[in-house]
Amino acid sequence: ADPAVKIASVGGSAHPSIPLPRDIFPGRINSSGLDLADADTLAATSADILAFDEADALFGKRTTVKDAHDRYANVEVGALLQRAEVADGLAKLSVEDRAAILERLADLIEADRIPLMALCVREAKKTIPDALAEVREAVDFCRYYAIRARTDFAPVLLPGPTGERNELRLAARGPFACVAPWNFPLAIFIGQVAAAFVAGNPVLAKPAPQTPKIAAAAVVLAHAAGIPEDALALVLGGAEAGRALVADPRIQGVAFTGSTATARAIARTLLEDDSRPLVPLIAETGGINAMIVDSTALPEQVVADVVTSAFRSAGQRCSALRLLLLQEDIAEKTLHMLGGAMDTLVLGEAGDPRTDVGPVIDAAAYERLETYRQSQKARWVHALSTEHPGIVPPTIIRLDRIADLKQEWFGPVLHVVTWKAGELDATLAAVNATGFGLTMGLHSRIASTAERVACAAKVGNLYVNRSMIGAVVGSQPFGGEGLSGTGFKAGGPHYLLRFATERTVSTDT
Ligand code: SER
Repeated sequence: ADPAVKIASVGGSAHPSIPLPRDIFPGRINSSGLDLADADTLAATSADILAFDEADALFGKRTTVKDAHDRYANVEVGALLQRAEVADGLAKLSVEDRAAILERLADLIEADRIPLMALCVREAKKTIPDALAEVREAVDFCRYYAIRARTDFAPVLLPGPTGERNELRLAARGPFACVAPWNFPLAIFIGQVAAAFVAGNPVLAKPAPQTPKIAAAAVVLAHAAGIPEDALALVLGGAEAGRALVADPRIQGVAFTGSTATARAIARTLLEDDSRPLVPLIAETGGINAMIVDSTALPEQVVADVVTSAFRSAGQRCSALRLLLLQEDIAEKTLHMLGGAMDTLVLGEAGDPRTDVGPVIDAAAYERLETYRQSQKARWVHALSTEHPGIVPPTIIRLDRIADLKQEWFGPVLHVVTWKAGELDATLAAVNATGFGLTMGLHSRIASTAERVACAAKVGNLYVNRSMIGAVVGSQPFGGEGLSGTGFKAGGPHYLLRFATERTVSTDT
């Protein structure tokens, strides 16, 4: 392994050079002073996070995390839906009111960022830079959907003959179930809630069972910002609570982020009862995400982007790189350099500012990943090791063919397959044949190759000559196709439309 290739072990955005659309996000917390780019700030933030006491924390001076959580711990879905169906408080709000509430929520999240980051570190085992990114993304979703709602929900006049007025309006659908994952327990949780609410729907929000306190804190802030009590309720519990929620015929739409299998199960449940209205399912699911690297790529950049994409966040992003496809001519050199870069990664506690790769979410995930990793030992190209409990050591596994990777392994385990000059189209076809279509990376300095891949790759997000994680709200609308999701993309201009229904009103004047 080549120790000359070092990856910075601390830092904020993987791509600080990409300009942020400040006109879209005037209040992005980047600009309000909390940036982790230097080690002193990171250490100070880490100290604040470690000192945070859940018993004393007062979100918006209203409650503690524990009280918020306990309030919802034993509430039944049926009772929550009964309130949501009426939602008097919500009915009084105009789209402008709802947008303004989201903007207030963004401000409250910014103000309470340290407690929220602390919960992300403790409950979701996020590293500190990842916890900050989580808060930023939650803020961005609120501000972005507020801006979109003002445009999307304005009535549109359509042409027609003289004496006829045709108007197209978006209307709310009714109680929406939002089912969020543990890997973005604040950002995706808030993003779903913000979209469903700003579209005028009462929301029943179910976080993953691993991250209830983060969700409880978010709901407290949302109520403090002005989302009426009857328009947002938390549903705590595991798969059974989730099933009960989506099986209730009063639910008029579902936003889900998680596994493809669960998305399919939800779709079946929504169609089970013939008397039930047909309601939309907005699903964001997994991927077997590939990065194609040809012989013209810059090796140092490839190595840095592979490490970021495959191992940051312990590989627990749905966007993360799972399958590295190296052109044969550069494969051994790239893998050698990659090994050197991996050796510089610091494996440790989530709350330690030095940590690059922390533990995976829980013991079950650890067992699953570790059992798989050990079963592939004969194929290891490079593997780190650690005594630290719960950490899956970043590992590269060599496969003969793309089709040998049968499923998404949701952790810091990267697979590598080589391809020969002239096999680019066949390689792309094999990736498409997995059926998943979330993210893809390409490293090539040939412009026509980038265009070829952009045209042929059946993926929602293609990243060229950069890392393939960390989609920015409003700049990189995120979401996949095929087995990876239904669309529309989160953080994109069409997302809110799926939370609403269109009505045409034609009047003879
Ligand atoms: N939005 C996240 C990312 O882009 C999803 O995993 O990394």
